[in-house]
Amino acid sequence: PSSLPCDMLVFGATGDLALHKLLPALYHLHREQRLPSDLRILGLARTPIGLSAFQALAERHCRAQIARHDFDAETWQRFAARLDYFAMDATQSAEFGRLARHLGERCGRGRIHYLATAPQLFAPIAAHLATARLAGPDTRIVLEKPIGHSLESALAISEAIGKVFDESQVFRIDHYLGKETVQNLMALRFANALFEPVWRAGHIDHVQISVLETLGVENRGAYYDHAGAMRDMLQNHLLQLLCLVAMEAPVRFDAESVRNEKVKILQALKPLSGLDVRDKTVRGQYSSGRIGGQEVPAYYFEKNVDNDSDTETFVAVQAEIDNWRWAGVPFYLRTGKRLRRKCSEIVIQFKPVPHSLFPGAPEQANRLLIRLQPEERISLQLMAKSPGKGMLLEPVELDLNLATAFSRQRRWDAYERLLLDVIEGDPTLFMRKDEVEAAWRWVNPILDGWHEYYQKPRPYAAGSNGPEQAHSLLELQGRRWMD
Ligand code: BG6
Repeated sequence: PSSLPCDMLVFGATGDLALHKLLPALYHLHREQRLPSDLRILGLARTPIGLSAFQALAERHCRAQIARHDFDAETWQRFAARLDYFAMDATQSAEFGRLARHLGERCGRGRIHYLATAPQLFAPIAAHLATARLAGPDTRIVLEKPIGHSLESALAISEAIGKVFDESQVFRIDHYLGKETVQNLMALRFANALFEPVWRAGHIDHVQISVLETLGVENRGAYYDHAGAMRDMLQNHLLQLLCLVAMEAPVRFDAESVRNEKVKILQALKPLSGLDVRDKTVRGQYSSGRIGGQEVPAYYFEKNVDNDSDTETFVAVQAEIDNWRWAGVPFYLRTGKRLRRKCSEIVIQFKPVPHSLFPGAPEQANRLLIRLQPEERISLQLMAKSPGKGMLLEPVELDLNLATAFSRQRRWDAYERLLLDVIEGDPTLFMRKDEVEAAWRWVNPILDGWHEYYQKPRPYAAGSNGPEQAHSLLELQGRRWMD
């Protein structure tokens, strides 16, 4: 990594991501003195406001996001002094000349361009940065997922970014990789000898990866209605989790070795097209219902959503990995908005014992649960004898709560970890170009299949467990989602 940068330019600075995630994460890093002392954060957006209005906007959002005991006025003042704001239209090349003049020759060190914008702007912004000479060798660019809207647009973005930046300068963020428990999954697998021998077909019946949300689309209808759950969540977050569960042990814990193993999994995903799309995928869209006792509207009544929208807010897919380790083991993935509970978890369902010794005992196979949120937990379900006469067996949990195990450390938000990695130039937890493309190569035929067969989303009531069909997907194979 080259020297520490002195400017972070945030494109889309008045958007949800910047206000809800990036600025609070930068505040925490500042408070813990992790930021280079002279790092300046320059917010860029079209909104014609001055610096003090931007600082006030940032403060309002940070106060709302940050725990009360972590927020104090004095630290905020010092953090706010790092902020700057420049109103510009990032689609206009000429505006970048103005931006360059605004930046001046502040220092000869590097810059980070954080593109918290719609993916359609990635290519033009990169080109304009080059023209305005704002993209030298000491520059890094951060791209937020989803990278593109389809395989074709992702390839076009890669090409355009590649004309201006070397791959080593590009940081493609998937914030799931910054979550503690996701990194703990690697520790669990590769720093413990216990699980690896049974981590394969033959011992594992199937894997479930669920990212369930209670939130609706909030203020993001305009973006979400063109994306949907497949592009917003499954193409990136869920496939990244799948890679970490399924990959071989990398030779070293460094960016190239880890990413080499992940990409092999994406390339080994069995293509789903034609009738498979009908049989192994489920799309859903929430209708009105109740969340936490409150009435909530149907998706198509949300702000900035088409009222005959057929965008999916839920998706479930049965994936398979065609390699030696995983042949024949289904990986069931599901994600959705406005569901009964918020929870992200991975379930490794082992096979039952080959021969049952205890007649009359319920046959419950071992199950390893890795929960990312709301609480960080790793828990192994074992069979044990219940007290008293006879051999009555019951499932019990061997339960590790990571927040309790490490209670003295503050839990970092994923963006804190990842922003610091960008600043320090460590790309291990970022997606490489070929990973993004391999993920799209698998997802694209599913999107095409939905279109071709006119597979409309199935309605599910807000506050429910998702569409019935997602349950039948497993039930037809004698399995069930862990609820
Ligand atoms: C984002 C999606 O990437 O992840 C959102 O765009 C989603 O739609 C969010 O709500 C979920 O992240 P988390 O960290 O709350 O699970």
